[in-house]
Amino acid sequence: MPKIDSNVAAERYPSVRRLTEQLAEPLSAEDCSIQSMSDASPTRWHMAHTTWFFETFLLKQLPGYVSPSPQFEQLFNSYYNSVSELFDRSRRGCLSRPNMDEVREYRKHVDSLVRENLESGKFNDHQLAVLEIGINHEQQHQELILTDIKHGLACSPLLPTYRESVSENYADADASEIEWVDGPDGLVSIGHDGEGFSFDNESPRHLFHLVPYQVASRTVTNAEFLQFMQDGGYSRPEFWLSAGWDAVQSNDWSAPLYWKKAGDEWENFTLAGPRPIAMNEPVCHISYFEADAYARWAGCRLPTEFEWEAMVDSLSIKPDSGCWSDQLISANQAIHPRALVQNHGFDHAFGNVWEWTSSQYSAYPGYAPPPGALGEYNGKFMCNQFVLRGGSCATPQGHIRSTYRNFFPADTRWQFSGIRLGR
Ligand code: AVJ
Ligand code: FE
Repeated sequence: MPKIDSNVAAERYPSVRRLTEQLAEPLSAEDCSIQSMSDASPTRWHMAHTTWFFETFLLKQLPGYVSPSPQFEQLFNSYYNSVSELFDRSRRGCLSRPNMDEVREYRKHVDSLVRENLESGKFNDHQLAVLEIGINHEQQHQELILTDIKHGLACSPLLPTYRESVSENYADADASEIEWVDGPDGLVSIGHDGEGFSFDNESPRHLFHLVPYQVASRTVTNAEFLQFMQDGGYSRPEFWLSAGWDAVQSNDWSAPLYWKKAGDEWENFTLAGPRPIAMNEPVCHISYFEADAYARWAGCRLPTEFEWEAMVDSLSIKPDSGCWSDQLISANQAIHPRALVQNHGFDHAFGNVWEWTSSQYSAYPGYAPPPGALGEYNGKFMCNQFVLRGGSCATPQGHIRSTYRNFFPADTRWQFSGIRLGR
């Protein structure tokens, strides 16, 4: 059975596709071509790859479908080895063609066929399920468009803005005090309950035993992270995992990504250009290694992904704020973490910064990847990565939930990732 109703899909599909176009609006064709590192992809590549996803897993499965551009497969297949040979990820910036107009044409072609089939009710349950994965996949790439272009723009000494934006983040107010919240312990249920969409890695739902613990009511602020830095955090090996210490040395880390000293003051680069660090905002763009080292310096630890989920579920916190939406973009509000000034007991668990957990990204008991090429979507990455929870200001609204498991290697910093302490 599909989770998504065909009428709902007929509405969601075009609106999510349109949002991707909207994200690219402030960017020139030249902006959309840059790849500033191998982890990041050009905006134009994201726009083509998400389209390729619908074409490959949906349209190409329909009898009689003929692709107008069969060569795109070798360019826009990201990592599905069972579909075709892969183009080197680190060289996506070399693909100047198809150009932006041609990619827009490709999007239109796929959109019109998907919509035609949707509106005439031609997709069966399995195809609707694939479509729903494709919609959620496009949302993941919307977040990557934002994080990747931020990284690209930050490379230029001109420090160009993605979008000039109005922002309420400048409040001088102090961050709220951290409170320690007791989470539920004993046997708790972890994983998705089957209501609405989820990725395969959120299942099966299972019982998990938790010993008593506490989680901080808010994430760590820039002010607090500065104390760590001023206390020699980056030069004192006692706080660091061995691999983390190696990463500090080889990457020459002495501050979060996008921080720069401007005279005596720290500045950071945002999607609205460079700004003085706001002390009451959550520290952001740090690696797992930095999150872990900070926690050790603070005499705490990172929560496990199970503690995080059990805590958020027990408090019935819903992901209804944070995250960007078409309204936020139309109102020209900043895509940037919000200051931690209010205290709702457990602040900004969703949609502010992704929260590193101490959990290695691995399979839940009884997990099996789905059959076929889509089995490569999540399962094959369950090695050498850590789980992040909660979504960020770059996550599209409606995409995040308490069971959602994001994952990245321990040395990655270009996502909007921060720290919530546990103990
Ligand atoms: C879950 C964000 C790690 O970036 O590869 C995109 C998301 N999966 N296309 C990634 C994803 C397939 C994935 N992350
Ligand atoms: Fe993808």
